[in-house]
This record gives sequence, C-alpha cells and structure tokens, in this order.
Amino acid sequence: MQDFSYDNQIYFLQQHAPTVSIDQSITQVISQEQAELLKSKAIVLQNIDLQGLSAEAVDIIAPLYQRVAKQLTPKRFAHVLRVTKLADAIGQANDFSTTELQATAKAAILHDIARELDCEAMHALAEPKIACESECHLVLHGKAGRALAQQWGIDETVVLDAIEGHTFGVLPDNRVGMAVYIADVSEPGRNVNQDIRELALEDLLSAYKKAVSCKVNYLQSRGKPVHPDTLRVHDEISQLS
Ligand SMILES: [Fe+2]
Ligand SMILES: [Fe+2]
Repeated sequence: MQDFSYDNQIYFLQQHAPTVSIDQSITQVISQEQAELLKSKAIVLQNIDLQGLSAEAVDIIAPLYQRVAKQLTPKRFAHVLRVTKLADAIGQANDFSTTELQATAKAAILHDIARELDCEAMHALAEPKIACESECHLVLHGKAGRALAQQWGIDETVVLDAIEGHTFGVLPDNRVGMAVYIADVSEPGRNVNQDIRELALEDLLSAYKKAVSCKVNYLQSRGKPVHPDTLRVHDEISQLS
C-alpha cells in the first residue's frame, strides 16, 4: 500500500488500482464536486471509485469512515466500501426514501465492524448460545457488530437490525437490511453472485430471496450448519409470492 498526502488528509491507494495511480489527481477518480464534498468531510479513499454514491450516503459515512477504517484491515475495509457503494446503488434503484438511504449507508459502513475481533472480544459483545455459535466465534460478528454499534452511539433499530442481519438475514419488511445483505454477498470484489447483484437493481425482494437461498444451499451442500435464524428467514421468505 502506498500513502500520499492530499491537502493535509491522508488518502490510501492500493498499488493494484486499475483506475488510480499515485500520479493521478483525485478528481480523475471521482467528480470534482464529489472530491470537494469528501475532502470537506475528511473522508479517506482506498482504491474505491465512489462515483455515484448518493449525497445521503456521503453525509452519513463521513463521520464514521475513519473510525471504521481503524477497526479493520485495509482488505476488509475495501470490502466494506464496496458493500456501502453497492447497497446505496441498490437503494437508489429501488426508490428508497432519503431516510432509507441514510439508514442503508450507515448499516453498510458499519456492518463488519466486529468481523476482526478475537474470540474473547467477540464473546464479550455477543455471548454464544448454541453450538454453531460456540464452535466459530465469527458466526457472531453480526450480533457483536450490533452491540458495538450501540456502544458507538447508533440507536436506530432499522440500522442495528441490518448490521446484525447481514449474517443471518432480515425479515422482508426491512428493505434496508435486504439491501445490505445482498450487497454483502454480491459486491464485485467477491467475484460471485453477479446475477443477484444485477437482479437487486431491478427487484429487491427477488434478489434477496435468491441470496438467502444461495447461502443456505451453499452451507448445506458442504455439510455446514445453517444458523436457525437463517433458516427462519429462509422459511419466511419462501412463503412470499
Ligand atoms: Fe460480515
Ligand atoms: Fe461484509
């Protein structure tokens, strides 16, 4: 990774960036207008083309951005940014209200804040209650993320439900949670689920049903346990037309 200074702010650019080089102006990556907005809010970029991010999303992620970056490895943080960008695009494509777009951006930027905690720290935030939660502490990172977000002062139920639900799923009345869930499993860096990503830009519920089924089928095909919360969501959405 290479760092450079940009008007007293440090911007991180990965060397493998396909569209960015150290010699390029930041405005070659995003629009001048966006660059000014991000600069004014001291946002750090990390090889992510944020063009197209809604103004609502920019306003929401600005005060959280640095804190999340410190919580994660650069690789994971890059994933979080791609999820945030895609979740925002899904929200825009599905006519989310301003309030929904704001909640989507907040949940997306925060969704993995507990992902890299060690077992002890994870369990301090989310106590394991069933076998699969005890066997692998990472299973709990959505629940732990919810608890950590609350410690950070986040109190909107829809956002907290979406953070927790990005691992086990949310009920289909939570459009914010569905957008984050889909973005997490289909963001371009994963190199899978392009069909789900494209479907989500046209039909949020169908894409969500497909994403949950995909996860259940994947786990079952490998003989891995499926969390009961995921099965509950799967059963509930399977009954929807
Ligand atoms: Fe996650
Ligand atoms: Fe994630």
